[in-house]
Amino acid sequence: MFIHLVRVIRVQKIMAIFLLILFTAILVMLIIMTYRIHSIAGKHIDDEAIHEKAGWIQGWVYGAIICTIIAIIASIYFIVRGTPYEGHLMEWLNIVVRVMHITFGIAWIGASFYFVFLENALNRTENIRDELAGNLWAVHGGGFYYLEKYKVAPKTIPRHLHWFKYEAYFTWVSGMGLLFIIYYFNTSAMLIDTNVLKLSTAAAISISLGSFIVAWIIYDLMCKSPLRKIPWLFALTGIIILTGFAYFYSHVFSGRAAFIHFGAMIGSLMVANVFFVIIPSQKAMVNAAKKGMAPDPQKGKNALFRSISNNYFTLPVLFVMVSNHFPSTFGNKYQWIVLAAISLGSAGIKHWLNLREQGRLSVWIMPVSVLLLLAVAYVTAPQPSTTKCRPVSYAEVNAIVQQRCIQCHSSRPTDNVYTAPPNGVKYDTPREIIAKKDLIMQRVVITKTMPQNNKTNMTLEERDLIRCWIEQGANPQTP
Ligand code: HEC
Repeated sequence: MFIHLVRVIRVQKIMAIFLLILFTAILVMLIIMTYRIHSIAGKHIDDEAIHEKAGWIQGWVYGAIICTIIAIIASIYFIVRGTPYEGHLMEWLNIVVRVMHITFGIAWIGASFYFVFLENALNRTENIRDELAGNLWAVHGGGFYYLEKYKVAPKTIPRHLHWFKYEAYFTWVSGMGLLFIIYYFNTSAMLIDTNVLKLSTAAAISISLGSFIVAWIIYDLMCKSPLRKIPWLFALTGIIILTGFAYFYSHVFSGRAAFIHFGAMIGSLMVANVFFVIIPSQKAMVNAAKKGMAPDPQKGKNALFRSISNNYFTLPVLFVMVSNHFPSTFGNKYQWIVLAAISLGSAGIKHWLNLREQGRLSVWIMPVSVLLLLAVAYVTAPQPSTTKCRPVSYAEVNAIVQQRCIQCHSSRPTDNVYTAPPNGVKYDTPREIIAKKDLIMQRVVITKTMPQNNKTNMTLEERDLIRCWIEQGANPQTP
């Protein structure tokens, strides 16, 4: 039986190594192909048809490169699965994809902020040609830039026209990658909290993905309904529905997963706006202009509406994504109210900034939004425990840590998910426990977000004993 098992595992590993070599060879070929296509297109620089075709093929080759890289990572995963390198691989995937996500996100939101700034700062009055809406001089990075905005479209559409879409798409793709690496690969540790709802892995992932689709359908219908003609009613309906989603997420997933899903859901709406509405509208306008026809103004209006909508989503998404790292926000009992308030407050600040850029002064929006965010900070503040402490010995605390924490936080964890100490936090010696006492206070006593999802069933009495021991000076000696 045992020998049979070893044999099966070996065969799997050999298969994975074979696949790794195969995919690496394919990757090298694909990369060489991109250079060949590039040089062919370079030789026929004036032939528009060849250029267009080369661009089209290049797009597919890039797609194939991404798929091959994913296949290579999957093969490596199967090779290291069950060894101490598995945790290490997941950590590095997490780092690399996270950096990509942040970088694409900065490029996307940066471009979006830049164009909003352009709109607001254009010179629309002095020395403007008839066909122009405005122009702008700028100095940056040691050079002078001069920019013109057309009222509708130039008479001929230039061959090299820059589109801003891949920032958005790649932000979403890398974000979904992170969702996979952190939450779907580890559903029992990260996505599901059995104290909230007992879900199977398949059910949890289906709910997660399904919720994004449902959110888009609702939002898209809202945008197409007469509701959109009355902005305040549109916003109010949106806020109520978003709060519903926050409530839903916090009643099916772990606290941290609920937060990330709320952010990922809004982020998905933003990218879907770009993919399904903004870019197709722009393509239709460019095609109309190429044929010498007047572009359909309704298309432009639809795109603008979605673009403004995205503009209001930016700050809430950033705020929610960042609070995902702060247990005092997602560890709260009423985390869905925290989510709703954070979103409303940060969207309010965005509204104030927009009005200001348009030269419209509003007195109350900023203070109300800031007050709302301060209220969140106030409401999530720790409740001081009122129970009196008796002298607590290190031996008692150590016994609790051995029983509830060491499964994960040890140089050799015994947990079924964590094969290396999470965040490098180990509690093998008194020194290591004392060094982390403030963090322990925060995670175990105040936010109660450790043990993770209370996997090791820590009791409230034990939390209180730890609090007393820390308040009494975290003495390593047993009195
Ligand atoms: C099931 C595994 C598991 C158990 C059991 C567990 N933890 Fe954790 N712990 C984690 C993971 C995963 C992280 C990193 C993710 C996070 O911060 O939420 C973490 C992070 C922490 C951090 C934050 C470290 C930092 O650098 O921010 C502290 C403090 C902590 N744990 C304390 C404890 C204590 C004390 C116990 C026992 C009462 C405990 N944990 C039990 C998995 C566990």
